[in-house]
Amino acid sequence: MKIDKRDWMFIAVVVVVLGIFLSISGKEKTTTVPNNQMHKVSYDAAFKNAPAADASIFTRAFYKPDKKAAEVFCEPCHKEKGVAFPPNHPAKNRCLFCHKLKR
Ligand code: HEC
Ligand code: HEC
Repeated sequence: MKIDKRDWMFIAVVVVVLGIFLSISGKEKTTTVPNNQMHKVSYDAAFKNAPAADASIFTRAFYKPDKKAAEVFCEPCHKEKGVAFPPNHPAKNRCLFCHKLKR
């Protein structure tokens, strides 16, 4: 099969799309939620239904932490403790979309 001009166009589009995809996924450097005593309430809420270490591999593969339950605590406590948001902080609902929990 000969690779003609249209094929090269297609390859170029694929490369550009892949490049954009990689550059976006590489940007995931938002600070994670510290796994400390202070943030224990949120971790406990997120992982309260976590399968035991000896659960089947499927149970563990499909398990998702309960992020919504954990997020309930974020903003009230940060307000109470006076933890400042950076001035250009994005919209503040769904904290855990951006700030990942540590495992
Ligand atoms: C749309 C994404 C997004 C959401 C949603 C979000 N944040 Fe952020 N947050 C960021 C970015 C980006 C920064 C600044 C860069 C960084 O800290 O990595 C930041 C910074 C912070 C900082 C300062 C971190 C530091 O190192 O000084 C805190 C604290 C914080 N966010 C808390 C929260 C809380 C609490 C919520 C939910 C109420 C929340 N964020 C929701 C993206 C987000
Ligand atoms: C019980 C209080 C409390 C709760 C609940 C809480 N935080 Fe925090 N958070 C703090 C305090 C206080 C700090 C300041 C640094 C420290 O002492 O860990 C902080 C710091 C942070 C930071 C900055 C860490 C860094 O490295 O600079 C991020 C990001 C953050 N919290 C995200 C969250 C998110 C997301 C949630 C909800 C899932 C949450 N926090 C829930 C009290 C809380």
